[in-house]
Amino acid sequence: MLKVAVVGAGQVGSTTAMRLAEQGVADVALLDIDGKLARGKALDISQALHLTDSRAKISGGSDYGLAAGSDVAVITAGFPRRPGMSRSDLLEKNAAVVKEVVLALQREAPDCVLIVVTNPLDEMSYLAWRITGWERHRVMGMAGLLDGSRLAHFAAGELGVAPGRVMPMVLGSHGDTMLPLSRLSHVDGVPLSELIAMERLRELEDRTRDGGAEIVALLEQGSAYYAPSACIARMVRAILDDEGYQVAASVYLQDEYGLRDVFLGVPVILGREGWREVVELELLPEEREGLAACARVIKERMDELDGWLEGSHS
Ligand code: LAC
Repeated sequence: MLKVAVVGAGQVGSTTAMRLAEQGVADVALLDIDGKLARGKALDISQALHLTDSRAKISGGSDYGLAAGSDVAVITAGFPRRPGMSRSDLLEKNAAVVKEVVLALQREAPDCVLIVVTNPLDEMSYLAWRITGWERHRVMGMAGLLDGSRLAHFAAGELGVAPGRVMPMVLGSHGDTMLPLSRLSHVDGVPLSELIAMERLRELEDRTRDGGAEIVALLEQGSAYYAPSACIARMVRAILDDEGYQVAASVYLQDEYGLRDVFLGVPVILGREGWREVVELELLPEEREGLAACARVIKERMDELDGWLEGSHS
């Protein structure tokens, strides 16, 4: 049986573990610094499997030995942003968490494909990749599929079609410089920009960009997890099944889209080795510039992380 390690037994991690186990995608190891929490959630999820066709086994705890030999590892561990906390406070706090997790996974699951979910997403994906020193195809951040699912939901509601009929395209960063591209998002081959009036479309794009914050404001405690976990589970399945499935994900660019040495959300094809290739879409000059603007912002934070990493070795 294939095996997936999910690190972090908070809402995103435990819901991901539940989806993977219920879908019978793989055996699941749910890890958390709070081993009892992870054990309890794993046991609870296991006891639901009786009602499904799944034969997956799920274990939980704080011992990374549980993750030994995992084919895919998902990192959800980290602190959410709290009021009064600056972005760079969060950056450093979560960098410390991600570093520790990555080193442990590298030891126990040296051949795995890594999916990073901890925020700030593009920056943490970079950090994880840099720490591993792995071939770039094995590390990616999950965000574009989630942002795309949000755009699909809004557009489907507007058009009165099922959400699955909308093929969304959201690139760039998982943050303020996110780039929902309605011209390249479509329903049965017809671009959203031809189906929805421009002004309304801008509103849907803005709501997509603020989609995470909208849910944080409603929940008051914590952030979204149902849609994030659905997206993670879908990506894990695509990787383990060597599906050739196209998703937007944050990956390390080496000249694709004219950008170099930066983690950014672009369409990639998923397969057993991680992401196989970046799909280079024909972008309009203003879309290209939007992507380059995202890259500049992320690159600055990557430099900040490089500095942090050098300091953290001492
Ligand atoms: C969101 C957070 C999880 O977009 O990044 O909901």
